[in-house]
Amino acid sequence: MKKYALILAAGKGTRMRTELPKCAFPILKKPMISYIMENIEKSTIDETCVIVGHKKEVLENILGDKVLYAYQAEQLGTGHAVLAAEPVLGDKEGVTFILPGDMPLMEYPLMDKILRSHEEMGNDLTIVTMVMEYPKTYGRIVRDEYGLVTAIVEENDCNETQKLIKEVNSSVYVVNNKLLFEYVKKIKRNERKGEYYLTDIVKLMHQEHKVNTFIVRNPMVTMGINDLYGISIAEKYLRDSINKSHMLNGVSMVNPETITISHNAIIEPGVWIYPNSVILGNSIIKAGAIIGPNAEVNDSIIHEKAEIRHSIVKDSEVGENTTVGPFAHLRNHAIIGKDNRVGNFVEIKNSTTGEHTKAAHLIYIGDSEVGKNVNFGCGSVTVNYDGVKKHKTIIGDDVFIGCNVNLVAPIKIEDNVFIAAGSTVTEDVPKGSLAIARNKQINKADYAKHLIKAKE
Ligand code: UD1
Ligand code: CA
Repeated sequence: MKKYALILAAGKGTRMRTELPKCAFPILKKPMISYIMENIEKSTIDETCVIVGHKKEVLENILGDKVLYAYQAEQLGTGHAVLAAEPVLGDKEGVTFILPGDMPLMEYPLMDKILRSHEEMGNDLTIVTMVMEYPKTYGRIVRDEYGLVTAIVEENDCNETQKLIKEVNSSVYVVNNKLLFEYVKKIKRNERKGEYYLTDIVKLMHQEHKVNTFIVRNPMVTMGINDLYGISIAEKYLRDSINKSHMLNGVSMVNPETITISHNAIIEPGVWIYPNSVILGNSIIKAGAIIGPNAEVNDSIIHEKAEIRHSIVKDSEVGENTTVGPFAHLRNHAIIGKDNRVGNFVEIKNSTTGEHTKAAHLIYIGDSEVGKNVNFGCGSVTVNYDGVKKHKTIIGDDVFIGCNVNLVAPIKIEDNVFIAAGSTVTEDVPKGSLAIARNKQINKADYAKHLIKAKE
């Protein structure tokens, strides 16, 4: 039997109070709907239709041509949204797995289990439910004296007895596709809200068809996100589960509640991560590296035994045994070699360095190719920008750059050069030279007293 997924994602998400449509809102930098789609792709579902409406182009951009789209021009409720899929799914034989676009935490093994249960029980409609201690905002599952489901009632339409019901609707359903479109047409507008509630399909179907529930044990995975507080709860859940899987794989974390790691990051066993650190994008952290405290590593590779403390590394690479920080900033393809030291208040951008190079304090290196065993003195700067264009600095091996040196690019410093402190170097320096580019010092004998006197 063919299996279809139908994702309801046309709503604005008014309670979010954000510009982005709710189902596109990111959790750990990934849009909510992508979580759902990635799991559907791994499940046994054959084809997916997404109902879009409010800012549909945002969702279409995220999902591309992986899915079929149906358009709900006006958002008149979840029942109305399903009806909008009739032109796409209306004549299909099979079952339809309905999911709300604001429920990103359900994983594909559970999706398949629900589908199997629907088939094995011979249901026409399976409602996925969960039991909640404080079920506010969820529709309640109403059963008759035999325990059979007869209706779903929204919180605001509940009487006092119904409000006490703890079994709630997750908004996930499996339903015989033909029956779905037959019955969804019969749904009437809810008088209080003026919307067509998909939940009303239960009271229409239960007498003539087999309506059953599938109870999910962990209500977190069927949590519907309606506001930014919900986003933070989902984020915490995902963070915990990502961190746990890394820890079980041999990554040590100190105070893991403060550590955020993206889904795509690869972290080898033997890495240590200290508090308040984030590892984002497609970062790779190799064995023995130390990240944090207070480190941000984004789309970067950190090699074996490197250390990143109180620093930012973005779109860059840090070589084996190299230490970065505290308070360093590597960005835009800074490729740092092995055994380097990048110390306090050092910024390196779009540059490469060879082995054993050191930039210990207060240094800017930009658009440079730096060799091995180079020492940058405190306050040295590659002057890469002339106000119009960026220029390149090339520095050979075994170069010593004194404190407060400006290397005005474009410039080439050859191997074994020594540059005197305080020099502003504008010409290339040949191999083995000492470059001094500053005024000679004059000492005026006995002169200081005049100045000291003047001050008095
Ligand atoms: C819905 C259910 C409720 C359930 C809860 C679980 C109804 C009437 N209520 O309530 O029983 O406990 O989910 O989370 O179904 N959408 C559209 N078009 C619309 C309206 C909504 O596509 O016209 C989409 C939204 O984008 C969203 C999903 O449907 O992704 C659910 O809508 P939402 O407004 O969040 O429903 P709830 O009030 O949470
Ligand atoms: Ca919801």
